[in-house]
Amino acid sequence: MTQKVTKAVLPIAGLGTRFLPATKSMPKEMMTLVDRPLIQYAMDEARAAGITDFIFVTAKGKGALVDYFDKSPDLERSLKEKGKTDLMEELARSDMPSGAISTIRQQEALGLGHAVWCARRLIGDEPFAVILPDDVIMSDKPCLQQMTEAHRETGGCVIAAMEVDPDQTDKYGILSVADTGGRAVKVNGMVEKPDPKDAPSNLAVIGRYILTPRVLDALDTQDPGKGGEIQLTDAIAKQIDGALGVWGLKFDGQRFDCGSKAGFLQATVAFGLARPELRDDLAGFLKTLKLG
Ligand code: UTP
Repeated sequence: MTQKVTKAVLPIAGLGTRFLPATKSMPKEMMTLVDRPLIQYAMDEARAAGITDFIFVTAKGKGALVDYFDKSPDLERSLKEKGKTDLMEELARSDMPSGAISTIRQQEALGLGHAVWCARRLIGDEPFAVILPDDVIMSDKPCLQQMTEAHRETGGCVIAAMEVDPDQTDKYGILSVADTGGRAVKVNGMVEKPDPKDAPSNLAVIGRYILTPRVLDALDTQDPGKGGEIQLTDAIAKQIDGALGVWGLKFDGQRFDCGSKAGFLQATVAFGLARPELRDDLAGFLKTLKLG
């Protein structure tokens, strides 16, 4: 029987250079969509998928992300005295049980694969999830839950995959698959950011993974790859010929690349329109814009 996935690694040690100067003194993952930081969306999704242990791979200057999940007794008392129960409920969303979050340091930003490898002792010998909080996914069923279900069926590594414009392949890890039908497709090759002319498909890897502990073994000896970074994709690719294989899951939902300015702005509009209390105002404003 496939072991239940209860641990998630959230690599948040990157430099966030695309949002400079904002990220000079604030972690990228604290940027807010409407009124919640990106990290909150990631944690909500993980909890909905049954994750109970969260491993933050952090670096210098990321303290605000850990503080965010602390309790705020003064604030709670003040809101209670003022009878602001709706705000108290909102605040409770960021409450985490004691001991649920562990942090581990990545001393140098050597790549996503290296960041995940830093968490190896906390993960142990069990399957685990990896969530990149700057990929935010709007969906009816949380993306990670769709993935844990696929993992239960296949037992192998499961990667969230989506079709991208064929001339955009050099921005993503790209999957090579024998059969593109069905939601979970068996992967027979992976290549990091290929030139469009060399890309094996237009099926791109995005920031959600369910991985077997064998990926950590591969990372033990993983050499730097594309861009001189230790790539997670390279370590996952080594599992393709293993007994359980690697699967790309074409998840249901819309993914926003909140690590890029355009993606972050699109997400702000989409999540704003999804909030009943904001929808009419925002939609009315968008209609007044003269584009083109
Ligand atoms: P990105 O490629 O988005 O890099 O990392 P970044 O540093 O966050 O942002 P830019 O490109 O400079 O604007 C993808 C994810 O991997 C983490 C990042 O924190 C982000 O969640 N990461 C990346 C690490 O934790 N460590 C690394 O060495 C590299």
